[in-house]
Amino acid sequence: MDNRPIGFFDSGLGGLTCISPLLSLLPEERIIYFGDTARTPYGSKAASTISKFSLRIADFLVQRNVKMIVIACNTVSAVCLKELTEHCPDIPVLGIISPAAEKVAHSCSQNNSVGIIGTKATIKSNAYERYINRLSPKIPIHGVACPALVPLIEEGIIENEIMDLSIQYYMDRFLKYHKIDTLVLGCTHYPLIMQNISRLYPRLSIIDPSREIAADIKKLLTERDMLAKGSDFENTFFASDLSENFINMINRIFEINEFKVAFKDLDPDII
Ligand code: DGL
Repeated sequence: MDNRPIGFFDSGLGGLTCISPLLSLLPEERIIYFGDTARTPYGSKAASTISKFSLRIADFLVQRNVKMIVIACNTVSAVCLKELTEHCPDIPVLGIISPAAEKVAHSCSQNNSVGIIGTKATIKSNAYERYINRLSPKIPIHGVACPALVPLIEEGIIENEIMDLSIQYYMDRFLKYHKIDTLVLGCTHYPLIMQNISRLYPRLSIIDPSREIAADIKKLLTERDMLAKGSDFENTFFASDLSENFINMINRIFEINEFKVAFKDLDPDII
């Protein structure tokens, strides 16, 4: 048993989409979340910048005595998972790409056409292709970067025409040209626009890494006898800029009355 919290982080509020699936599966677990809202988006930044920010956030979480770190960000997982793992030798560090890649490898074949949507950094890294094709070399995989989607989501522009047009701008030609039948939401912000995507493209089968990672967290904690039981730690959400959108999104995702949420600012200069 290990009642220390699990540390999650993302460039902003996208990683929050990993929390509900985890708490449904493991209701006894407690979490510390860090959203780097002062610096979001990461996806169009240089790899060296993404690594620098991520290592500092990992230090921040380790200082708060987390038992493991979950990189609730595809961009960071694609760019610097290895660096983070080496930087935190005393606790497990789990990236979000491999659980989703396993799902694709197990549920698709060479007769499918798999599309990955993500940030520029994620698509440029080819991380999904590498992970999936290592497990199942013949599955056809295609990627497209959708850089305008994250800023819109961070702004809360979701259920409206601007979001629909932006999705279509990136995806219409991509889906048709590659005859995509299975789509991986390769950015943790995208589950927040899953309804738009399903409505616009109802035939697509959608894989959501934010859901897939919960089972891997459970497996890892079970194998190492690190599951929590009866913890009185309060789930805590940190942001480098405590924006209205971040607070609204936490309220929206967790229906705040379900459990207590502590809002805490982190001086951006510290990170
Ligand atoms: N939510 C993040 C991801 O999964 C990154 C978004 C961004 O900061 O560009 O890639």
